[in-house]
Amino acid sequence: MTGRLSGKQALITGAGRGIGAAIALRFASEGAALLLNDIDAAAVAAIAEECRKDSAAVHVCVADVSDPSAVERLFDEAVAALGGLTVLVNNAGIGGVGKTILDSDLDEWNRMIAVDLTSVFLACRAAVPLMRDTGRGSIINLSSVTGVTGTAGSVPYASAKAGVIGLSKALAKETAHWRINVNAIAPGLIDTEMSRVRGQSSSAADLLWPRIGTPDDIAHLAVYLASDEAEFVTGQVISPNGGAVI
Ligand SMILES: NC(=O)c1ccc[n+]([C@@H]2O[C@H](COP(=O)([O-])OP(=O)(O)OC[C@H]3O[C@@H](n4cnc5c(N)ncnc54)[C@H](O)[C@@H]3O)[C@@H](O)[C@H]2O)c1
Repeated sequence: MTGRLSGKQALITGAGRGIGAAIALRFASEGAALLLNDIDAAAVAAIAEECRKDSAAVHVCVADVSDPSAVERLFDEAVAALGGLTVLVNNAGIGGVGKTILDSDLDEWNRMIAVDLTSVFLACRAAVPLMRDTGRGSIINLSSVTGVTGTAGSVPYASAKAGVIGLSKALAKETAHWRINVNAIAPGLIDTEMSRVRGQSSSAADLLWPRIGTPDDIAHLAVYLASDEAEFVTGQVISPNGGAVI
């Protein structure tokens, strides 16, 4: 353990698998106290158990981050379990690539916006007063290269992830004077269940960097953004994508 996050109180949403689980494990190994959220109780309990090998303070709150009352409960739990909050990682999300706008219905659009964008608004709105009162905070929001470049067959997902970028930039301007930095991570293709379910894969010949991204590629960046090393970094969109978008 190198302790780059010791003294930090971090809430990570969607920590049951994939990128969120990798962030949870890295944060634990860097000494953060953790509240791990997911909608999948068994998955997040298993990751919490792994994190406890490195960090004594690991708590769990099962909640659907698109539900406003569940998000209130999540932040009550952050205060009760961690005693405050200095780092928020809005990672929970659902994917959706493969349907053109002509095949998309309003219910799918509403669900995507609720889980991938409204949840970020709800969580940031709850986190800012806690961080302001502490005098320091880091918010890290998971966007996607799809939110930057667009991807055919992903109008709802691209819209939600572009919204996360706009939200992050506007919020960074509102919170800088409280020393709360807000940044977006816009990953390229990362090998997780989300990308596998979407049937997205790249042969080595398609890739500029000669391998697909891993959850740890994102977790290492999240550790940096959550640490005091990144205090002067705010309002940025950082895109680990192996050069897929330059
Ligand atoms: N995998 C990629 O290629 C990729 C690329 C760009 C951006 N992202 C973004 O990174 C984030 C993590 O993606 P991943 O690939 O690890 O996905 P994943 O599907 O492997 O994991 C997502 C996690 O979020 C949880 N979750 C889903 N809906 C939830 C809800 N309503 N409330 C609470 N938890 C919920 C799931 O149970 C799961 O544990 C997402 O925001 C995704 O859009 C992923």
